[in-house]
This record gives sequence, C-alpha cells and structure tokens, in this order.
Amino acid sequence: MSRERIEKSKCLGIRGGRLFVEDMAASDIVERFGSPLFVMSEAQLRSNYRRYRDALQHGWPDGPVDILPAFKANLSLAARRILSEEGAGADVYSPGELAGVLRTGVDPERVSVNGGGKEREHLRNCVEAGVRITVEDVGEVDLIEEVAAELGKTARIRLRVKPPLPGLWKPTDFARAFIPIDLGFQVYKSGLPLESLAGIGRRALNHPHVELVGLHLHAGRHSASLWYWEGLMRHYAALIADLCEAWGGWRPREIDVGGGMAAPRDPHSRMLERGDFLSSLVGYPLLAALRLLGEKTYHGVLSRLLGALLHEHPTRPIAPSIEDYAATITSTLRRELGARGIGLAGVRLQAEPGRGLYGDAGLHLTRVKVVKKQTEPVPLNWVLTDTTEFFMMCGTLESNRYDVIAVDKIDAPLTLQAEVVGHSCGPDRLAPSQHLPEVQRGDVLALLDTGAYQEASASNFNAIPRPATVLVCGADATIVKKAETVADVFARDVIPERLLKTQPAGELPQLRRAAD
Ligand SMILES: Cc1ncc(COP(=O)(O)O)c(C=O)c1O
Repeated sequence: MSRERIEKSKCLGIRGGRLFVEDMAASDIVERFGSPLFVMSEAQLRSNYRRYRDALQHGWPDGPVDILPAFKANLSLAARRILSEEGAGADVYSPGELAGVLRTGVDPERVSVNGGGKEREHLRNCVEAGVRITVEDVGEVDLIEEVAAELGKTARIRLRVKPPLPGLWKPTDFARAFIPIDLGFQVYKSGLPLESLAGIGRRALNHPHVELVGLHLHAGRHSASLWYWEGLMRHYAALIADLCEAWGGWRPREIDVGGGMAAPRDPHSRMLERGDFLSSLVGYPLLAALRLLGEKTYHGVLSRLLGALLHEHPTRPIAPSIEDYAATITSTLRRELGARGIGLAGVRLQAEPGRGLYGDAGLHLTRVKVVKKQTEPVPLNWVLTDTTEFFMMCGTLESNRYDVIAVDKIDAPLTLQAEVVGHSCGPDRLAPSQHLPEVQRGDVLALLDTGAYQEASASNFNAIPRPATVLVCGADATIVKKAETVADVFARDVIPERLLKTQPAGELPQLRRAAD
C-alpha cells in the first residue's frame, strides 16, 4: 500500500518503517493490550468532527450548522463522549442508542431519533428527554401528539422524506446488480411515502402538542461521488419547496441531509464486484472451454488468472474530501432553494455522518498465526490471522476491501501474494489476494478504516470472544471496551432444568489464553 494512502489519515504515520497510530507504534499497542484489537484515534475523531462542522458552516452562512454523528456506526461511549464534549449532536435509532448518547452528556436539542415502528414508551422517553423525533411512519404524528399531550409537553418533530430521484440513474453500490440509485433508494424502507407527506404535515401543523421544525433526508452511501450528492440535494430542495407551498408558506427551521459521505479510503467495494461479475461473464465460458484441453492446461491457465479471479483489484480511488462533500451539499441546496424563493436566513443545516466521521478514526490490529503456501494444483498462499470477518460483519455485507499493512515491515518489498484470512471455520477472506511483505507468525497486520460499523456488528460465530477497543490519544492508550471471555460468550445461555436431570452440566473449563 502506498505511503500516500496512509498519509490520508491524520492519525497514521510511518516512523522508522513502522506504522504509528498517533504517537504509538501499532505493534506496541498489540504488545500491551493483546490481539486482535479495535483501535480508535481520538485526534482523528476530533479532527473529522471539526472538519465536517467547519466545512458545512463555511458553505452555509445563512444559519447554524449541527453535526449529528450516527451513533449506530460506533457504539463506544468513550468515542461518543469525545463527540459530546466537542458539541456534536447525534443521530440515533433505537431506545438503546438513545439511552447511550444521553449518558454521554449530549445536548438533547441536537439529537434526532429516527426509525420506523417507534413504540409508545420510546416516544414518551423522547418527548421527556426533549430530543427531536424524526417521523418515519404515517400514523406516528398522531401518536406523538397523544403522548406529548399526556405529558403536557410539546414534541419537536421533523418528517423524514423520500423524494423521487429520477436523475440518479447510475448503479447503486448497495446492490450487486445494476440497480439505478433512484430505484435502490426507493427500495430502502425508511422515510414517509411521498403521497402521504402533504397530509401528515397538515395534521402535524394542527396538533397543539407537536411542532414541525424541519425535514430530514437520509439516502446513504449509494455512491461516493459528488455527482450523486449534487443530484440528491437538487431533488431534496425541489421537494422541500413543494412542501412549503403545500403547507401554506411553512418554512423549515432545520434541514437535515443525513449521512452517506464516504471516508477517504472508502473501503466499500461493491462497485468492484460488479466489475468481477462482468469479467466472469466472459471468463467463465472461457474456463469451461479450457477444461476440454485437459487438467494441466486448465490449471495452468487458472494459475495465471488467479489474481483477476480472486478479486485482486487496483487500489480503490480516494473519495472526495469532507470539504468537497460539504461544498457540494451547501452550494446545491442554497442554489436550488434560492431559485424557488425559499429564504434560508436562520435555517439550521444538519448532517449525520457515520462512516465519514468514524471510519478512518478506527483500525483493526491482528497477529499472524500461520502462513500456509501451496503450489499444486494452483499456487495459493494464506496468511491466517487471529481475528475474523465476524468481528466486521457490516464490512462483509458491504463487500469492504481494507488496506492491509504489515505494521513493522512497511519498507519491506511486497513479495508475498496471499489471502489474508480470519480464523473462523468459513473461508473468512478478510482481504483477498493481498500483496504483502514476507510475514511470519506473530507479525502484526493492520486493517485500516474499520472505525464505522465494524465493531458495532461483531458477532461470536464459532464462540470466538469479541475483542477489546483501545482509544489512543497521543502516546497514551486506554481500553474503552473490554474484550470478552469465553464465559461472556455463553453468559446468556440457559440449559433448562429438565435437561440437566440425567446429567448435571459442568462448569465452563478455564481456558488458557495466549497471554497467560
Ligand atoms: C438516519 C441515518 N443517518 C445517518 C446514517 C449514517 O450513514 P453513513 O454511515 O453512511 O454516513 C445512517 C446510517 O444508516 C442513518 O440511518
């Protein structure tokens, strides 16, 4: 991996051929806290937050700007506490997420609670806490009115909209097939049906305990391009203007553009898979024909094509910067709303970055357990690590391709082409067909950009305990999420008494760990 890609992060550096996270060598972190590990950089998180805030504010002189980081992307309360300290709001989904962010001292006025099917009790908690409720269901405003009336309070709400996006015809990265973004966005369940918006808004405006303060759109990362953001904001602005008219001159006090901005090295790689699909269309008939020429020729050709077949890809492009996204969002919204006569003085602009804010603030460190090589019938190498893709399931769902670094061998020649694999029983291809230096047992590898959605989606497949998270701040590092033990993995299990009659269950044996 090129040095320039490493230098895309504020928190990463190379000193004496070793990867540093802020002022700590990555392998020293593993030495101290064990492996595998999720690592978060405080400096990167703060810097990302401030860049979003400043860049959006720069493009939005009309009113204040709020950054509402998507809490689901990283559930670490320490990371969240840093953001609350910075003045960030929060985008939350569930009652659990709401409880989590409120614990970190966030300003409730800057919390958006979204999600369909909100239960009455959840809504009560929202109204009592004084957070914004982002309405997703057709009957929700009436339920909110009832709950707020019972509590004798006013609920501040926004409607989550779902504009048609006819200009966005390029394929969405959320689908393996060629589905246009326009359709991909509509398939996503969230948001109020277009045809119900005018009526819901009118009802909200008539409810005495509900205040309709703004509109909300979250479409997500269908594409990393600015073209996508320009189109999205254009269609959003058109819908905002239509609703202002439908609601008799109502004006939003808050416009929320949601999240979906890519992190710089943007590990999301579905678009690369579409390329694979196309090459398979040509390659598969060719390989089928080759079989007729005998096993030797067949395997010989397979060996030559291994790289292409096993998803060896050119380096993914660097995504637009936070400043580029901010400039596109603000300039498009201002231009389009201005053209439709919607005054913006005092209007609050809000954004909810998840991956763009947390992504490159996190990395995953893992030790090599075994290097295995074969030459027949096709040459393949595996670097088996002590982690697993099951700690990074959201990444697997989005076909993530992480930049992989042998942290203490940065200057060594990349002579080993290998599958970097995890130690679950499945193929567990953490990083297919990587070019690495000659690594050996005990070497530490870093998978970059795992700060968003990965730890939050970790599971215990194969009864493997989930790893700790360490927060690095300069030359200081602290555990902010403890590693699980095997006992934790089985802690929720109950064997019914009747099944214990014939033979009592034993205690879980004490398992020795590598560090013991
Ligand atoms: C409402 C809302 N806002 C923001 C986000 C964050 O999206 P991303 O991580 O793509 O920035 C999500 C993610 O699902 C979301 O549902």
